[in-house]
Amino acid sequence: MRKTLVAIAVLGYFGACVLLVAGLGYVWHRSDPAPGQPIAFPHTVHAGQLQIPCTYCHIFADRARSAGAPPLEKCMGCHKTIAVEREEIRKLTRYYEAKEPIEWVRVYALPDFIYFSHKRHVKAGVECSMCHGDVAGMKRVRRVNELIMGWCVSCHRVRGASRDCATCHK
Ligand code: HEC
Ligand code: HEC
Ligand code: HEC
Ligand code: HEC
Ligand code: HEC
Repeated sequence: MRKTLVAIAVLGYFGACVLLVAGLGYVWHRSDPAPGQPIAFPHTVHAGQLQIPCTYCHIFADRARSAGAPPLEKCMGCHKTIAVEREEIRKLTRYYEAKEPIEWVRVYALPDFIYFSHKRHVKAGVECSMCHGDVAGMKRVRRVNELIMGWCVSCHRVRGASRDCATCHK
């Protein structure tokens, strides 16, 4: 009897752990794939119609780990005069005048324990669209690939890149 109780307690404990981990995993992998943003910035207009190069705004993509978000001065270079009467541009101007950075909501984010670098990939000729899809065609950025390990490793297999655990787990 005693043994059975202990067994049940132990199973219950591990069961709870498994559920907790699964639950966290669920939340992590199911975060909104196309979150709303503080300003409805349309890539369709800027990267699509105007064909502004991705790295004009995401200036660190080919030289650092993070691609980076553009400083507001860059937006205002155009929006001091363009579409100033629109609601979203009024919002943009308010942030700019208050010298308050915009807290964009992340669409793609890896857990902290993963090592990833844009520079390595961009320099190796892996295009933005291979990982982020056709952003120029998206009115609101939508996550097209869940950043699970299998996704990274399967491209590394195809492209002959390193699959050592220590490559991504430092
Ligand atoms: C090279 C010039 C240029 C730059 C740089 C630029 N924009 Fe624009 N933006 C435009 C043009 C042109 C339009 C289209 C205006 C129209 O519909 O008449 C536009 C449209 C927009 C709109 C849609 C406005 C609406 O409601 O129709 C938003 C929002 C916007 N831009 C935000 C930004 C933000 C934020 C940045 C900086 C990250 C930025 N823009 C950088 C030129 C630029
Ligand atoms: C005029 C500036 C501008 C240009 C050009 C631009 N972007 Fe962006 N990008 C932004 C801003 C501002 C955000 C943050 C708001 C948002 O998510 O829409 C952003 C967000 C993103 C995100 C989501 C980042 C996250 O939170 O995970 C991706 C991916 C992205 N851009 C890729 C691209 C690609 C690929 C191109 C070229 C096809 C491009 N961008 C061109 C300004 C720009
Ligand atoms: C090999 C896949 C891959 C390629 C190629 C790639 N990205 Fe990313 N991108 C990611 C991953 C993974 C993240 C999340 C990184 C993190 O959380 O540290 C990300 C995040 C971002 C972000 C938001 C966070 C940040 O780093 O600033 C932006 C913006 C972005 N990418 C833009 C681009 C642009 C622009 C290009 C092309 C010049 C590009 N990416 C090429 C995989 C890629
Ligand atoms: C679409 C293909 C593709 C995807 C997806 C991809 N990678 Fe890569 N990755 C490459 C290529 C190609 C290289 C080799 C670059 C080189 O030779 O310099 C590379 C190299 C790397 C390196 C450097 C390897 C070294 O030897 O130091 C790291 C770290 C890395 N990737 C992490 C990741 C992580 C983490 C993910 C998933 C979030 C990912 N990659 C997704 C194509 C990809
Ligand atoms: C190309 C990059 C890459 C390589 C190589 C890689 N991993 Fe991962 N790994 C990831 C990413 C990204 C995650 C986080 C996303 C997820 O949970 O799928 C992850 C998550 C994990 C997790 C889950 C951690 C947690 O707490 O959720 C384990 C365990 C793991 N990796 C083990 C390994 C082992 C063992 C190897 C070597 C055989 C390896 N990985 C090689 C990218 C990589």
